[in-house]
Amino acid sequence: MGDTIKIIRTVADLRRQTAKWRGAGKSIALVPTMGALHSGHVSLVKLAKKKADRVVVSIFVNPTQFAAGDDLSRYPRDEAGDVATLASLDADVVWAPSVDDMYPAGFSTSVTAGSAAAELEGACRPGHFGGVATVCCKLFSQVTPDYAIFGEKDFQQLVVLRQMVRDLNLPLTLVAAPTKREKDGLALSSRNRYLSADERAIAPALYGVISELAADVGAGADIPAGIVNARRKLLHAGFAKVDYVDVRDAETLEAPSKTVQGSTQPLRVLAAVWLGTTRLIDNVAVVAKKA
Ligand code: PAF
Repeated sequence: MGDTIKIIRTVADLRRQTAKWRGAGKSIALVPTMGALHSGHVSLVKLAKKKADRVVVSIFVNPTQFAAGDDLSRYPRDEAGDVATLASLDADVVWAPSVDDMYPAGFSTSVTAGSAAAELEGACRPGHFGGVATVCCKLFSQVTPDYAIFGEKDFQQLVVLRQMVRDLNLPLTLVAAPTKREKDGLALSSRNRYLSADERAIAPALYGVISELAADVGAGADIPAGIVNARRKLLHAGFAKVDYVDVRDAETLEAPSKTVQGSTQPLRVLAAVWLGTTRLIDNVAVVAKKA
């Protein structure tokens, strides 16, 4: 295990490093993050190490994906802790550009996220996926990875970025890693640290309720009725507000027909809820029961 790791802060230095690797025939995997790393990120880095010869982890809290009123200013930051974690994992490079390097004066080009970005998170957080798509497009062109690793926890982000990579013919493969959870089912997230003890006790019910909905839909239940029931259960469990709970096609995020009986369409249950001032998102796959 290494105990030091190279931190690169300018595009010019990054290009020198990746050119050396390419010259030596090495493949590259990128793990894009906003820092405040937890075990979910650790699993992404471990997967990256299996995929490629060299691993770059970007740490950049991207201002363009936060709308006014979002939690940009209180987003957790711990570069020293993150660097120590990544060194212990034997990642090769931390790519940590400044906001001015990423968005220099005069910056004015951006990516418009595609149809998969329109609803769910896209409706609750206008502009969010445009910011994500733009920064990921820049990260991909800066690092030139063969693989980029994303967690399924941000499922819509994954679908939006797959659409971008496909539509813009970007020369890399996106790899999805399963969501890491606490023992009680709560999906790991940098935002979990904001939960009070009372909120933390309620939080796992999100996974419980969406898992029940996924099981019901998989067994052939009526989808609109299941969604209404799940919303009621979430509010009853103590969530202050439900931004959405929904069942969507897992590849396009379009709404499916009313039941999945006899269908092979891959579906996903997605939800976003509030506990106090903290917003939690989660999702699970629908596994259709064989008739
Ligand atoms: O998932 C995240 O942490 C961010 O949205 C990402 C992909 C690093 C882009 O800023």
